[in-house]
Amino acid sequence: MPVARSGLFWRRIFVLLLLAAGGVYVASARGGFPHGGSPLGLTYGVTGFALMLLLAFFGIRKRSYRSTFGTLEQWLQSHIWLGVFAFVILLLHTGFRFEDRVAVTSFVLLAIVVGSGIFGAVLYRNIPRQLTDVQSGLPAEKMSEQLNQLARSMARLASARSAPFQRLFSELMRESQPPPLAGWRLLAAPMRRAAAAAGEWSDLVALVPAEEHEELRQMLVVARQRRELLARLEAQQRYKNLLEAWLWIHVPFTFALLLFSLVHIGAVFYFGTVQW
Ligand code: HEM
Repeated sequence: MPVARSGLFWRRIFVLLLLAAGGVYVASARGGFPHGGSPLGLTYGVTGFALMLLLAFFGIRKRSYRSTFGTLEQWLQSHIWLGVFAFVILLLHTGFRFEDRVAVTSFVLLAIVVGSGIFGAVLYRNIPRQLTDVQSGLPAEKMSEQLNQLARSMARLASARSAPFQRLFSELMRESQPPPLAGWRLLAAPMRRAAAAAGEWSDLVALVPAEEHEELRQMLVVARQRRELLARLEAQQRYKNLLEAWLWIHVPFTFALLLFSLVHIGAVFYFGTVQW
């Protein structure tokens, strides 16, 4: 998939910021230990925290569709790259010392938020184009409608036929029933439906009287179409579930991160680590 122009732009900004922050760190590390409480360490801390607030603001911006302040794509790209940069700059802020419990907890939360952010970005990127409009809910609804239509055509073909024909019909319908907790199972892996034993099926097909063979052929064609459609619907649902599950990590952990960071900032001022 080609990288959007705003993607390239923010990637470049990221590299520049990284070089600047890393360069300053290396240069000042020669003259002393640039830990959280040193002037440089504090600059990193304040910048990182300001970035975190900006990144959290993205969550609000995403929901205010009427805003003309930047496009959604630009916000997404800046969110990804500034998020990774916030992690780097706060890592420099720690001075690679991890002792204070509250500060370290904030840092672990930050790692979870940024890590889940990267996972989410990869997920968005890898969702095949035709699946992205799943979120509108429309195609999925249309598909279910089509699935029902196909099931009705099969039922019509099977009505008033011989017993083996009817059995084949009910086997085909049973095969396409989602198992219990299908939504959750989809999260772990594409649903593997117990494929009907091919042998048993050919036994049944052999029992269908010759005069019903044409209708049988038609029903099997429709059943195949239906199976393919169902597989597509499952794939869509799987992506949708993944996207939702991912947000359940990213968003609450962001709130926890902000809270812990505020406690950490309050503590360093309260206990006089930072004189003001
Ligand atoms: C306005 C923002 C911030 C200020 C003023 C600030 C201030 C400080 C200070 C003064 C220290 C040194 C503490 C010491 O030497 O005892 C420190 C260390 C640290 N800070 Fe921050 N900080 C800020 C933001 C953050 C954020 C957002 C995180 C994490 C997400 C963070 C994580 C840490 C860690 C892990 C340490 C090292 C703790 C240790 O020495 O064991 N800080 N910070």
